[in-house]
Amino acid sequence: MIRNQYILVKDLLQKKNDSASDGMPVRVRGWVKTNRSNGHIGFMALSDGSCFENIQIVYNLDEHPEMTPASKISTGSSVDVAGVFTLTPGAKQPFEVQAAEVTLLGDCDSDFPMQKKRHSLEFLREVPHLRPRTNTFNALFRVRSVLCGAIHEFFQTNGFLYITPPLITGNDAEGAGEVFTVTTSEGETDFFGKKACLTVSGQLHVEPFALAYDRVYTFGPTFRAENSNTTTHASEFWMVEPEIAFADLEDDMAVMEAMVKYCITKVLERCPSEMAFFNEMFDKEHKLIERLTAVANSEFKVMTYTEAIELLLKADRQFQYPVAWGVDLKSEHERYICEEVVQGPVFLIDYPKDIKAFYMRINDDGKTVAACDCLVPGVGELIGGSQREERYDVLLERMKEMGMEQETLQWYLDLRRFGSVKHAGFGLGLERFILYLTNIGNIRDTIPYARTPRNLMF
Ligand code: 4AD
Ligand code: MG
Repeated sequence: MIRNQYILVKDLLQKKNDSASDGMPVRVRGWVKTNRSNGHIGFMALSDGSCFENIQIVYNLDEHPEMTPASKISTGSSVDVAGVFTLTPGAKQPFEVQAAEVTLLGDCDSDFPMQKKRHSLEFLREVPHLRPRTNTFNALFRVRSVLCGAIHEFFQTNGFLYITPPLITGNDAEGAGEVFTVTTSEGETDFFGKKACLTVSGQLHVEPFALAYDRVYTFGPTFRAENSNTTTHASEFWMVEPEIAFADLEDDMAVMEAMVKYCITKVLERCPSEMAFFNEMFDKEHKLIERLTAVANSEFKVMTYTEAIELLLKADRQFQYPVAWGVDLKSEHERYICEEVVQGPVFLIDYPKDIKAFYMRINDDGKTVAACDCLVPGVGELIGGSQREERYDVLLERMKEMGMEQETLQWYLDLRRFGSVKHAGFGLGLERFILYLTNIGNIRDTIPYARTPRNLMF
């Protein structure tokens, strides 16, 4: 067996214009995407996962008849190839590997569903263990990884401390009654001896850390038993939640905007092939990159909830859900505002207090809260944030008004007695951000194994 050094396809790509590397002995391994031969010469497209691109392997059966078995290797098999890196100026690919030895590592049965023909996203959802082998998900999950890296980088370089709140908790942070219960049995004998659930948000647990470290963030899974069958709701999703001491809503929005722009820029920079693919395949007008670039270089608009309601009432269309001051905005309303009125990201602020969570700071009008949703085209709500109620009496009053139990949240109230300061934060749904960046269209295709109502595969 030839003992050349293994090299990654992404590293070979770097050498596509490097004539000094022409003729270099190399060894690559990966999975066969396509393989065809005419009995004299064969071509194999190989993916090693190091980048979006495949590499072309050429095997010459006239010169190397001992490689004849290579022509029988089926799509999906894993192989090890030793050969020579060869520049091919003028050809479709800038280079190829001319094989001297092709070793089959793992054969692939003929019922492997990821053959060359295109599959629908719906079909691929039924095979989440195999879809990473497709171009679409190869690109998608690399964007997801790069985005996660950029999120951490943004906060770490801006002085935020990373805090990991518990996933099992005793309280429903959003008070929306959408919690999954954690239990081993029934009643008093249960594991924790009290009601336990999966977290819907790390916010309440992280506020105490903001009041010690000034600025912190969480980034982890959250769970919602929300019976919504839409393209933007998942039962398990990842959320980024910064919390900033001494900050008001305006400071909060500045962080949201800076973070979104930073992440867009980094993903475009670090995933050029992947983003070109989404631009080509998932945007009818092929303007995804152009739009994202414009967003990264523009200022986000700000509009009050009240202004948005006025615009919706004036709209020359019938909405499925009726509009009036005080109603919670549905996706159709949010999308009308950001897609048709603003045609870009917009911050909606100052929502009626009755449709928002108990911890949001009451504005001086007594009717609205210092809350903000960031809406983006194609998705709707990308971020939800607010300034927090830092006044003990006002917060307690609000909790009572909403019929909440004081006892379980006394610790949270106590933060308002021990050196309280104004503070603010927000939550950004990672999967919604991926929807926005890729235009892939359905949240089920942004996460490795989607969990949605009546759907839990593997
Ligand atoms: O607006 P939400 O419910 O806000 C909170 O949970 C706050 N505690 C955040 C904070 O201020 N620290 O959720 C925040 C974001 C939404 O804007 C949305 O992007 C995402 O989380 N999100 C979901 N993503 C996917 N599936 C769901 N079911 C989601 N629910 C919320
Ligand atoms: Mg929200």
